[in-house]
Amino acid sequence: MVRICVLGTGHVGLVYSVALALDGHEVCGADVDAKVISSLSRGQPTFFEPGLAETLADAIGTGRLSFSTDILESALRADVIFLAVGTPSRRDGSIDLAYLRAAAREVGRAMRRASRYQVVVVKSTVIPGTTEDVVRPLLERASGKKAGKGFGLCVNPEFLREGSAVQDALHPDRLVIGALDSRSLEALDAVYARQVCPRLATDLRTAEMVKYATNAFLATKVSFANELANLCDALGSINVDTVVEGMGLDPRINPKFLKAGLGFGGSCFPKDVRALVAAGTHRKYRARLLKAALSLNDVQPLRAVGLAEKALGSLRARRVVILGLAFKGGSDDVRESRAIPLARALLRKGANVVGFDPAANDAFHKVVPRVEIAQDLASALDGADVCIIQNDWPQWRELRAVDFMGMRRGIVIDGRRIVNRETMGAVTLVVLGG
Ligand code: UGA
Repeated sequence: MVRICVLGTGHVGLVYSVALALDGHEVCGADVDAKVISSLSRGQPTFFEPGLAETLADAIGTGRLSFSTDILESALRADVIFLAVGTPSRRDGSIDLAYLRAAAREVGRAMRRASRYQVVVVKSTVIPGTTEDVVRPLLERASGKKAGKGFGLCVNPEFLREGSAVQDALHPDRLVIGALDSRSLEALDAVYARQVCPRLATDLRTAEMVKYATNAFLATKVSFANELANLCDALGSINVDTVVEGMGLDPRINPKFLKAGLGFGGSCFPKDVRALVAAGTHRKYRARLLKAALSLNDVQPLRAVGLAEKALGSLRARRVVILGLAFKGGSDDVRESRAIPLARALLRKGANVVGFDPAANDAFHKVVPRVEIAQDLASALDGADVCIIQNDWPQWRELRAVDFMGMRRGIVIDGRRIVNRETMGAVTLVVLGG
């Protein structure tokens, strides 16, 4: 059992607090937000994630998980301190380290008072070099101790997917541990003693880079699939899913993350790829491939607008429905959702835009208030000219021709290649990517 403090109880911090407590450690989740801490202490998660409410209750039930607003005290009592605070984007795509700096200073102050060896672990996603050049000096100054002697330092990126974050934390497919020295590495290895999965031990900067490289590669894969889909449309009568299936039979190509659609969104891919491009620019390197992946992603949602115009003509004063507002199915998160640029483009065309999502209606309304929000599928489609499927909720797979009966013109643009073509009857179905 290791005494752990997780600083920051957002998506990453909370899920790891729960997973580490269930793994047998004594964990304190600490955050400056008193409202969040009070809710978590009552066992109520502050965001939705499948299985989180149940596992949070289980972890609290073990008596090993607590929450506190007293960061100094929580850090003082811990052997291992995870920094899991947010690193939001700035206008130029680079990341804002204000929370991380504040957290490092506070942890340093706690370490000044602690008489034993402690290890600080950077879990937040940060540009390579940040832990060494920013976090380490702040910790050293505030604690009066030297990294590698008085305290340990590690970088341990997270690979959690929204929707399966709890399972990903409980059963990781790999652990990447960047460590300043062997003593730091041993301490973090002890935290993950129960995990059976491949481990990669690196230096601090490499571990930071592995996180960005992973997300940049996956995002590029998605853009690659979208490029293929657009080419399939241009060349005519080629189904991109079959093309990807054929590619995937080559053992050198993993077919996952090659599902074509209207682009990638969420709190990670766009932000991380932009941050990596910005870090390159800052050091006079132009990341051409990653810029191309981003620029395709910017225009990809507009493909649906083009397909709708091709099927209907002008969209002015037409009722256009966006089915799916969250950045992906199964989520209530609209951050960087492709529904946002899609809705704005449709509004610019003079369309009357209606949106419906099983979980993200309220969140989307706050971002694009000019879109009329429907409370159910039938009222969204009632009198509509076109329906654009924007994300991949599993229920879109169950849609039948009868569901579209209320439309004025039965034109459906499947932007995620999800509906069952066999059951669409008289609906005019246009599938992106053939
Ligand atoms: C992503 C990564 O998958 C996680 O491994 C990583 O830990 C996380 O970012 C993070 O950095 O924290 P997430 O943002 O939850 O996780 O969502 P994904 O399931 O990866 O999807 C991202 C976007 O790509 C979605 O808009 C999705 O619709 C799109 N996508 C994904 C496709 O269009 N096609 C695909 O084949 C896969």
